[in-house]
Amino acid sequence: MYINFWYPVCIADELTAVEPMRTKILGLHFVAFRDSDGAAHVLADTCIHRGGALGKGKIVDGNVECPYHGWQFDGSGSCTYIPFLENGSKMPARAKVDSYPVIERYGIVFAFLGDLPEEERVPLFEIPEWGREGWRENRLVKFELDGYYERSIENGVDPTHNQFVHPLQGNIKFIPEYLTVESDDWCTTVTTRMEPPKPGTVKLAHLRNDDDPENFGSSTGHYGPNTLITRINLSADNCFAQYFFEQPIDDSHTRIFFVNMRNCMLEPENDIRIEQINLAIADEDITLIAGLYPVRTPETTTKEILIKGDECIVGYREHLKGWEKRGWRIDLKTMRNTYGDVAYAIPSPGRRTQKNWVLDSVPLIQASS
Ligand code: FES
Ligand SMILES: [Fe+2]
Repeated sequence: MYINFWYPVCIADELTAVEPMRTKILGLHFVAFRDSDGAAHVLADTCIHRGGALGKGKIVDGNVECPYHGWQFDGSGSCTYIPFLENGSKMPARAKVDSYPVIERYGIVFAFLGDLPEEERVPLFEIPEWGREGWRENRLVKFELDGYYERSIENGVDPTHNQFVHPLQGNIKFIPEYLTVESDDWCTTVTTRMEPPKPGTVKLAHLRNDDDPENFGSSTGHYGPNTLITRINLSADNCFAQYFFEQPIDDSHTRIFFVNMRNCMLEPENDIRIEQINLAIADEDITLIAGLYPVRTPETTTKEILIKGDECIVGYREHLKGWEKRGWRIDLKTMRNTYGDVAYAIPSPGRRTQKNWVLDSVPLIQASS
């Protein structure tokens, strides 16, 4: 798992100015809430007094109040009120928690979990079809997976699993000669063509038997460590674009925020049917990923055999290696060894400009060249 990327925190509509929401991402807890103006905030969940869970507290005057002794924190993470501070005493300089940059988009609250200053941050992924004429989005759905998010991304960028894992799709075969893999700073994308389904094998309404193989293809890719992009082109006017914004809950559980766009069957009454199909397909992947052993990908490729169809997976892993070299990879072994004894926080941008933080910054694998 990596710091310095945008992670989905919650569905925007679920976040209110009435109650805080507590969620776990990258193995640590966060509290999300809205202030009196409706602006969303995401803070580290651990109260720096004596370890209360802010996400189990309440919202008072737009601040989040710890349930243990009532200390209050505003959206910037500063402590604004301590009930039993002696008269005339100043607020302790260290009375602050990490606060993370937030963007609300696609109906999701995203937080940048890391300490990079704004000009160095990777942009939040932009969905090209969002708001474009001729495209319609399905209701945003969220589901959980008993597995590690990197296994889920690798599954998504793997064109060779479809015909085995997704029989509902009519056992569509990809054509190996047309497989191409491209890469840039943040993504790797694999593009394939597929054999149109044979007559009588199609079980899904949106797959047709008469499509031209020239256009019958898909591309899948990752953006950063935790965004999965899938484009399925059945023909020019029959396309689906699917986006998984993945929230690594910890090193073996994942929550996925799924945005589905389409340029066909635009009538709203098709939404439910398409959602059902998508979730049935996702379910096939969930079942498969939950059975993978080991839970996380092995540290060395000698413990697997990778072949041509795994090229995009290799590209993904190379990107992850690059982010590890920058010093962004969380040191899970140290975290596990100190579990229960040390409270960590993902470092926020505030740590670059202010000193005196109560919580330890999460252990990271040292940057290397
Ligand atoms: S632990 Fe939060 S106020 Fe005491
Ligand atoms: Fe799949």
